[in-house]
Amino acid sequence: MEDNLAEENRKLEFHLLEADEVYRIRMYGDPVLHEKALPIEAITEEEHQIAKKMLATMYSNPIGIGLAATQVGILKRLIVIDIDRDDPDNAPIVLINPEILEHEGESVIEEGCLSIPELKAEVKRPEKVIVSARTLDDEEIVIEDGSLLSRVLQHEIDHLNGVLFIDHLSRKKQKRLKAKLRQIRQEYAEIPA
Ligand code: NI
Repeated sequence: MEDNLAEENRKLEFHLLEADEVYRIRMYGDPVLHEKALPIEAITEEEHQIAKKMLATMYSNPIGIGLAATQVGILKRLIVIDIDRDDPDNAPIVLINPEILEHEGESVIEEGCLSIPELKAEVKRPEKVIVSARTLDDEEIVIEDGSLLSRVLQHEIDHLNGVLFIDHLSRKKQKRLKAKLRQIRQEYAEIPA
């Protein structure tokens, strides 16, 4: 456990060194979270810098395994994911313009979101997805997955479309979460950057 923690800190330290600083994560109530991000036409130094800073931001949150640019107020189609953040040998993935080509099946998994702290809910989504994207090296990749990665990909791509996981819940469930959401909105609203 302690070893794991030390390894994890090394990962965070590395990415913090790379990025110098982290972004402020936009919280529920911030209108930017409902905006649709625009496709990235060319991968430039700017995209590399954004990705580095997003990775540092994700690792600096102890439970972050995915982050979309929308969540840091940047309306570009870029996401970062590390579903094995405790494994020092597992490299994070950075995806530009990710797109779900195909989906199959159905699964119910509990989700949370760095932009909606302390709230978790079971969400029904396709089990398996095939996603195409470009890497930071401007290569095309296709990811086929039916496990946790599939779930995180869908959650993060949703962010790029201005969709939050709570938007997938039934009206009844959303109603039940209303007070909690109002509380989060009030707690995090208007915090200066
Ligand atoms: Ni999220």
